[in-house]
Amino acid sequence: MLVSMKDMLNHALRDGYAVGQFNINNLEWVGAVLSAGQKMRSPIILGVSGGTIKHMLGLKCIHDIVVNAMDYLDIDIPVALHLDHGTSQEICEAAIKAGFRSVMFDGSHLPFSENLDITRRVVEFAHRRGVSVEAELGTIAGSEDGIVNSSVIYADPQECATLVKETDVDCLAAALGSTHGLYKGRAKLGFAEMQTIAELVKVPLVLHGGTGIAAEDMRRAISYGTAKINVNTENMYAWCQAVKDMFMADDGHDINDPRKVIRDGLIPVREMVAQRIHLFGSEQRY
Ligand code: 13P
Repeated sequence: MLVSMKDMLNHALRDGYAVGQFNINNLEWVGAVLSAGQKMRSPIILGVSGGTIKHMLGLKCIHDIVVNAMDYLDIDIPVALHLDHGTSQEICEAAIKAGFRSVMFDGSHLPFSENLDITRRVVEFAHRRGVSVEAELGTIAGSEDGIVNSSVIYADPQECATLVKETDVDCLAAALGSTHGLYKGRAKLGFAEMQTIAELVKVPLVLHGGTGIAAEDMRRAISYGTAKINVNTENMYAWCQAVKDMFMADDGHDINDPRKVIRDGLIPVREMVAQRIHLFGSEQRY
């Protein structure tokens, strides 16, 4: 059954671990992430970006694929199907109507008062239907689905406190130095600010841009109140590298089944998801 993120993230915050959000990119990706979570008895968040909505033929199609895949694979761990970086109230409501149990409204590019207003309206709509909401403040640098932010802007602690208090949002992505995509050098996260914000807001914090963050920094973020970590780029790169290797090793005659190519490309993805689950401490929780 699909669940909202509320209980799984509050449990993670209380018990000092984080739940991974693994973005999905196609049908087989759904199966790979679900199976990794099931094998390790870990809760899972399936992240759906704007690009994936188009690629996988719409919110309803994605919802139905996930629900039917869970049934087919006998998945009984908690799974949240989550809209990643929803850019408007309309897309958040459309995802909820399509059956998503969790959405992110990302108004971080808007003036604070507008971000607060829309987040509040999304929360009202979502909570009436038992759906969880993630909000964002500050700017996460890097690029995702072709949307580029060149600079990092740290979330302001007072704005974080006000946003959470006034909207009753379930978790908060407070940008503190992380980047979507690959880092140049080591990621420098604002740990002091993270501690301050966690104490002020008391809801689980979300760390975007999980690819390339050192394991010890992830552990430290978790100990400071981060209960959700988003990962995508490393899995996409792993799939592409595996498929490139597959074709390089072939003499040009044996690879004729696209199902096998897509499936075998996911072998390292499944392994990496399992490593992340282990690092985040979410295995054997259910
Ligand atoms: P990466 O692609 O950098 O791992 O970040 C994923 C993410 O934050 C999705 O919202």
